[in-house]
Amino acid sequence: MNKIISHIKAQKNASQPLVCLTAYTSPIAKILDKHCDILLVGDSLGMVLYGMENTLGVSMDMMINHGLAVTRSTNNACIVVDMPYGSYERSKEEAYKNAKRIIDETSCHAVKLEGGADMSETIAYIVERYIPVMAHIGLQPQSVVIEGGYKVKGRDDASISKLISDAKAVENAGAFSVVIEGTIENVARDLSKAINIPTIGIGASADCDGQILVTDDMLGLLSDHTPKFVKKYANLATEIDKAAANYSKEVKSRTFPNEDYTY
Ligand code: KIV
Repeated sequence: MNKIISHIKAQKNASQPLVCLTAYTSPIAKILDKHCDILLVGDSLGMVLYGMENTLGVSMDMMINHGLAVTRSTNNACIVVDMPYGSYERSKEEAYKNAKRIIDETSCHAVKLEGGADMSETIAYIVERYIPVMAHIGLQPQSVVIEGGYKVKGRDDASISKLISDAKAVENAGAFSVVIEGTIENVARDLSKAINIPTIGIGASADCDGQILVTDDMLGLLSDHTPKFVKKYANLATEIDKAAANYSKEVKSRTFPNEDYTY
């Protein structure tokens, strides 16, 4: 049985942080499931899988198709699916309708949306209708165009007090956890102390109740710019490159397929 929301909430201030990664496809979800408390079907899939420049072009259908692939392939982790840009900002009613569609069509456990105090009414509206919501504050990738880039938060007093009021607002609205992205170290510590729901950090230091990375980043599959906070636990791009070069050589020399691989 997959980890349920109450299990995640109970990990606030636990001795071991929550282990979270992104997953978008069945084979990867199957491998990661037993290692993770939360698997996020993140809208980062727009860049990682579809070669988009940012997450703004990701659709509801994309999130639902990948969400379903992941829920079909897992039985341990709590599965959270991102609400894509444009699916929740216009009104709380539309946000609920789209959150319900994601839950109904993927059987995931929760949805995630970006925003703090500005989204608290929407979060409350969805949660009051029994859909668990993970919030996402700090650096919000869906704001990349309006912000003119991916900007680290918490560098001055105004930014720190906005982060603290955002964290409190999403907690009061009923979010069961909150992703904190791209903040300087002591801010994550203050945020984690200020609220009673688990904080999941990405580029936000070890002072969070859990950590998340984009799986393709930590596996060394993405050749473009790697952010400072990403540790590469493997270098799969090199492995794949080597395997493809070997295959190419063997096909061209007719050494593959030999009799071992022939009926
Ligand atoms: O879309 C995503 O992968 C995310 C993580 C970076 C938290 O939101």
